Order: sequence, then C-alpha cells, then structure tokens
Amino acid sequence: MFPSSSSPSIRPYRSPEDAARTFEVFRAAITQTASTVYEPHQIEAWAGPCDIDLGEWDRRRTTATTLVAVIDDQVVGFADLLPDGLVDMLFVDPAAGRRGVARALITRVQHEARERGIAELRTLASRSAQPAFARFGFRVVADRPGNTVRGVVVPNAEMRCRLGTPTLVILAGVPYSGKSTLAGVLADRGFGVVEVDDINRAEGATPEALADHVQDRIAAH
Ligand SMILES: CC(C)(COP(=O)(O)OP(=O)(O)OC[C@H]1O[C@@H](n2cnc3c(N)ncnc32)[C@H](O)[C@@H]1OP(=O)(O)O)[C@@H](O)C(=O)NCCC(=O)NCCS
Repeated sequence: MFPSSSSPSIRPYRSPEDAARTFEVFRAAITQTASTVYEPHQIEAWAGPCDIDLGEWDRRRTTATTLVAVIDDQVVGFADLLPDGLVDMLFVDPAAGRRGVARALITRVQHEARERGIAELRTLASRSAQPAFARFGFRVVADRPGNTVRGVVVPNAEMRCRLGTPTLVILAGVPYSGKSTLAGVLADRGFGVVEVDDINRAEGATPEALADHVQDRIAAH
C-alpha cells in the first residue's frame, strides 16, 4: 500500500529496467482490479501466461510511447500511446488505485498527443476502465460485446476523446504569490500558461489598457 498523500510523477518508460515491473502491474491490475467486473475465465484469458518473453514485452513498450507513473520510486502504473492516437494500455497497481495515477498518466498522454498534432485519442476500454476514461473526456462510440482475447469473449468498448485546443490560462497577481508553482503544474497538465505578475503596478489603468497589457504578454508567450 502506498501512503494516500503520495502523488505520482510521470516519466518515460526506461528499457529494459521497467519491463518486469510494468508486466507485474499489468497482471495485478487485471487479476485484482478487473476481476470484479469479468468472470474468472475471462480474466485468465486476458491476463495470459505469467512467463511471457519479457524481451518482447520490452520491445512493444519501446516501439510505442510508454509513460510510467512513479510513487516513492516504485512504478505504479503505465500507459502506451501509439502514433495513430491509440491509447493501447492503461494499467495501475491495485495498491495505488483510485488516487489519480491513471488521471496523471492520461493527462500526460493527452499533452504528448497534442504536441504531435494528434486531434483525437482512441482506446478499446475494458469494463473496468470505462468509468475512468469517461472522467478523462472519452465517450463510448461502439460497444464491442464480441471482443475476444485468446479465444475467450471479453467485452469492451471503443471510446474516443477529441483533444481540441488547450485552454490558455492567464495567472495574474503580485510577485511571490505562488503563481510560478501553479503555472508549472498547469503546464505539465497541457495548458498554455501566461504569467502576468506586474498587473498590480497598473492600478488606475483603464480595463482596455490592462487588456492591451495582458494581450502583449500572451503575444510574447
Ligand atoms: C482503470 C484504471 C487504470 C484506473 O486507474 P486509477 O489510478 O485507479 O484511476 P484514477 O484514480 O486516476 O481515477 C480517475 C477518475 O476515474 C474515476 N474512476 C476510476 N476507477 C473507477 C471505477 N471503477 N468506477 C468509477 N469511477 C472510477 C475516479 O473516481 C477518478 O475520477 P475523479 O478524478 O473525478 O475523482 C485501473 O482501475 C485499472 O488498472 N483497471 C484494471 C485494468 C484495466 O481495465 N485497464 C484498462 C485496459 S483498457
């Protein structure tokens, strides 16, 4: 169990040292978390064998863009983004579940995708993951009741998320008010952020003059 106060940091997958741990997270997420919404034979088929070729697993992670979530130096989740916008994997260690690990991963995936000009993300979401993907802005476009894994029916759904233009956030206020820290966090989440720390010096200026001032700062961004 991880302390509930710990929040995850996101970094790129490291080959080959993250291979064994990400595979462990994959199996734990399926056999524990997803086992509440699928039958045992479906879980067995989806989880697959324990003794896979870790070299092949590692190759798949390095050909995708794989991001890992880390809490207390331990990998607790990972997600794969493929060049066509498919979010191919999203798995979180059950011991670190429901504390924002998937949200941190998908927020970074959305940021990476925007940077590459990908307009829409797509995923084939398990029943376990559909509520979380819905919270991240994905919508079900097709139920897939006949999806099969290793010959066993494991229903899932295709979900899509339009990325759109990131919101530009303007942070205005006095210097040393904590704006820079907040700006850093918002930038990590994919927002365009402009800090305006000298707006207080413009007291008495007309709203139009203030707007010109802020507009200049945005233009310089
Ligand atoms: C789906 C999964 C990745 C979610 O990971 P997580 O780190 O626990 O999710 P988060 O804590 O980031 O939750 C994100 C949001 O989804 C919601 N959420 C997550 N799981 C949920 C569930 N089972 N039911 C309802 N809401 C859920 C959370 O409440 C949260 O919403 P909020 O931020 O508005 O409070 C994880 O449960 C998992 O690994 N499941 C099994 C494997 C799986 O199905 N992977 C997907 C393959 S397609």
